[in-house]
Amino acid sequence: MAKRERMLSGVQPTGQATLGNFLGAFRQWRAQQEEYESTFLIVDEHALTVEHNPVALREGTLQMAALLFAIGIDPMHSTVVVQSHVAGHAQLAWLMECTATYGELSRMIQFKDKSRGSAMVRAGLFTYPALMAADILLYQTDLVPVGEDQSQHIELTRTVATRFNHAYGQVFTIPRAAIPPLAARVMDLSHPEAKMSKSSADGQGNIYLLDTDDQIRRKIAKAKTDLFNEVLYVEDDPERAGVRNLLEILAALTDREPKDVAADFQRYGDLKEATATAVIEQLSPIRERYRDYVADRTQLSSWLAMGRERASEVASHTLARAYEAVGFLPSKEVKNGD
Ligand code: TRP
Repeated sequence: MAKRERMLSGVQPTGQATLGNFLGAFRQWRAQQEEYESTFLIVDEHALTVEHNPVALREGTLQMAALLFAIGIDPMHSTVVVQSHVAGHAQLAWLMECTATYGELSRMIQFKDKSRGSAMVRAGLFTYPALMAADILLYQTDLVPVGEDQSQHIELTRTVATRFNHAYGQVFTIPRAAIPPLAARVMDLSHPEAKMSKSSADGQGNIYLLDTDDQIRRKIAKAKTDLFNEVLYVEDDPERAGVRNLLEILAALTDREPKDVAADFQRYGDLKEATATAVIEQLSPIRERYRDYVADRTQLSSWLAMGRERASEVASHTLARAYEAVGFLPSKEVKNGD
């Protein structure tokens, strides 16, 4: 049997996960976890790059783990691991900081966006892509499913890995990004020109994965539409962004094409009703499992310990090769020479 390719992705443990995270990422992770040897990282180290609250970070990390398991990431098949549990991330990140250039990091759009207007920009926000490259390369990853906003970071990872391999010898697999196509971008229900994001300010246009059925119905009922009064799927028309978003959400949830979905409806009210029903159908079982998982800290900790163990095996092997390649003196040789 051919060796399965390795897939890896990461999610920050801060903020409440949205329908956008589910359709754009988690659902694909769940569907592909058996096809690949999969690792899903809860990136608590990345969460330190902006102002953070330690108590919320610790809680958020456990909650994100419970959520991933509730969504259907199977701890027997896939490796779910907390980034700070495997020291190799921080260790390899240093080598990546010394392989990437200042110029390359300065060109990262996410850094420019997140640092703008902030008086105390943490140095880690600037070097963030080096840590992300380390996350990926540590596991000899082939495939990285990420949103479009992360594609520049994957490009940088490829550049840095290639440079390292040329300079010091073949250590890293060069990964490729997988950007999901349809409804990869779920838009904000109240501001359909902007992406639904767990870091968005007011949250009224967001559907959170843990929203109650009532909240989901209310938010979708209030979703912004337009005055055309016809259910049509039109791409690239900013005036029709609200209806397009609803059609794309319903299409993604029912595995159909938005154009076909549009043909089923005459009235916006009916479209909203059907969309709410489909969202609830998928999210309410997740919410119920989540409640059980998040309450059982012993079970959660033992799944995370399993993840750490599996992850550490691959990680320590890669790190040892990378350390040797750059010329670090192996510590056991010092002992032998005693
Ligand atoms: N930077 C990613 C985000 O903000 C999260 C992330 C960290 C990640 N490390 C990763 C994603 C490695 C994929 C692979 O969404």
